[in-house]
Amino acid sequence: MKRVFSGVQPSGELTLGNYLGAIRNFVSFQHEAECFFCVVDLHAITVPQDPEDLYRRTLDIARLFIASGIDPDIATVFVQSHVSAHAELSWLLECNTYIGELRRMTQFKEKSEGRETVSAGLFTYPVLMAADILLYDTDEVPVGEDQKQHLELTRDLAQRINQRFGPVFKVPEPYIPPKDSGGRIMSLTDPTKKMAKSGDDRSSIALLDSPSVIAKKIKGAVTDSGREVRYDVEEKPAISNLMVIYSLCSGDSLETIADRYGASGYGKFKADLADVVISTLEPIQKRYQELTEPGVIEEILAQGAQRAERTAQVVLNRFREKLGLVPRRS
Ligand code: AMP
Ligand code: TRP
Repeated sequence: MKRVFSGVQPSGELTLGNYLGAIRNFVSFQHEAECFFCVVDLHAITVPQDPEDLYRRTLDIARLFIASGIDPDIATVFVQSHVSAHAELSWLLECNTYIGELRRMTQFKEKSEGRETVSAGLFTYPVLMAADILLYDTDEVPVGEDQKQHLELTRDLAQRINQRFGPVFKVPEPYIPPKDSGGRIMSLTDPTKKMAKSGDDRSSIALLDSPSVIAKKIKGAVTDSGREVRYDVEEKPAISNLMVIYSLCSGDSLETIADRYGASGYGKFKADLADVVISTLEPIQKRYQELTEPGVIEEILAQGAQRAERTAQVVLNRFREKLGLVPRRS
């Protein structure tokens, strides 16, 4: 059976962009592949985090995975730092990674820009991500478009190591939805930027936003000149983004939406879009509430970590042996 791995950082509140670009696809993968879905807390601490927020968000993301439809009896849901093989493999991979290739990572450039100090962890972040993926002999990695370059690095590292030491790692493939089906959901206030977790509050819809907040944010979303609802990324980037959101939440095609709202103006379209988004998130929010009972998510994560560890250890040992590291006698 095919293996699928993906991760989400507990670095902010999950957004509709995360859901439409990534988590929604996780849910459909679980029936056709052996899936590992990870809350990547070690990635989040590459930039400063408030410890209480980190703690809460880590559990929240796991709850939202499950509330979105991931079944923990089918897929393995776990926290990255619970399986120490991730940090360990990351070091082994770092010793086979070139500084030059990490310098080229655009996410590093973006995230380090304007910071007074930049941690070494932010620089080596993509290597830890490669470790996450390679530890599970992963075939496919569902991610948003912004992660494409990290996936290429992961593939390069796997191929380089396989060449140096003989077969060790499976070379994974990215699974990136096209832009018009969620690969890149844009900000509500600036359609040239992606909808991000840490963005300004009005720019993104959080999965746990209340219906009234969602309606307000959509009403306030920027639009383009003119009044025609039409999919045209060049001329109408803002409306096109809202149409993609509408389409993914409702299941209607972009053409259907253009036919329905083309002539009725932005106001009616936005009001209906708010309803569509609210009814997509309502069942997720309801299930999320049920998972806030103390101990429930913790138990799911404990079992997930146990399952993940079994697989990870096999792959880690395979590489350790190839490297010539002496195994510890038990
Ligand atoms: P992050 O929020 O960076 O931890 O991303 C978690 C997952 O959601 C990754 O697969 C991202 O590529 C995806 N993602 C994040 N933001 C967006 C967005 N605006 N549109 C589509 N996918 C996204
Ligand atoms: N870097 C990813 C992001 O910011 C999160 C991530 C970490 C990830 N490890 C991963 C995604 C492994 C897929 C597979 O979105």
